[in-house]
Amino acid sequence: MHVFQPFPLEELEFNPFKTIGQDWGLVSAGTKEAANTMTISWGGVGVLWGKNVAFIFIRDSRFTKEFIDKTDFFSVSFMGANYRDALNYCGSHSGRDCDKVTEAGLTWNYKHSIPFIDEGDFILLCNKMAAVKITKDSFLLPEIEKWYQDGDMHTMYVGEIIDILAR
Ligand SMILES: Cc1cc2nc3c(=O)[nH]c(=O)nc-3n(C[C@H](O)[C@H](O)[C@H](O)COP(=O)(O)O)c2cc1C
Repeated sequence: MHVFQPFPLEELEFNPFKTIGQDWGLVSAGTKEAANTMTISWGGVGVLWGKNVAFIFIRDSRFTKEFIDKTDFFSVSFMGANYRDALNYCGSHSGRDCDKVTEAGLTWNYKHSIPFIDEGDFILLCNKMAAVKITKDSFLLPEIEKWYQDGDMHTMYVGEIIDILAR
């Protein structure tokens, strides 16, 4: 297990366009007994309802969604470019069919019983504040519909960032 230290949010230099959009992250949820993780490249961080928050978008079909829905927390783990293969694996295999974390060469770690990926060098631990189903009637631009041709809609989860861990 790696040693992580709490990281003060004020000192954070975080470019969401690069870190989330290009380098990708792993969203994890569950318990010490059972957890799941999946790759994300959509989402963001900001301020909402008086809290520092992260928001992620999870499609109905994802096994990870069941874990996010069942518990109060989720984490987002960011890791170095040397884990690109692991991120590709976790973004193309479902935890329904395999022990994804082990097969991707990754390891579980926990803080406040929230699962995160030990190989991450930067982790957001989040307390769910809202789960907002994205519906087609909210789209103002018709072009967005192309992302939902199969009806596999996203839910937006907004979570208060309760801890930031860094190595
Ligand atoms: C680069 C990349 C980014 C992804 N981003 C998202 C995302 O933001 N939201 C989402 O629902 N799925 C996203 N996915 C797809 C899931 O990671 C993928 O379906 C995964 O296998 C789900 O695993 P699960 O069924 O074990 O939860 C992404 C996949 C890749 C490769």
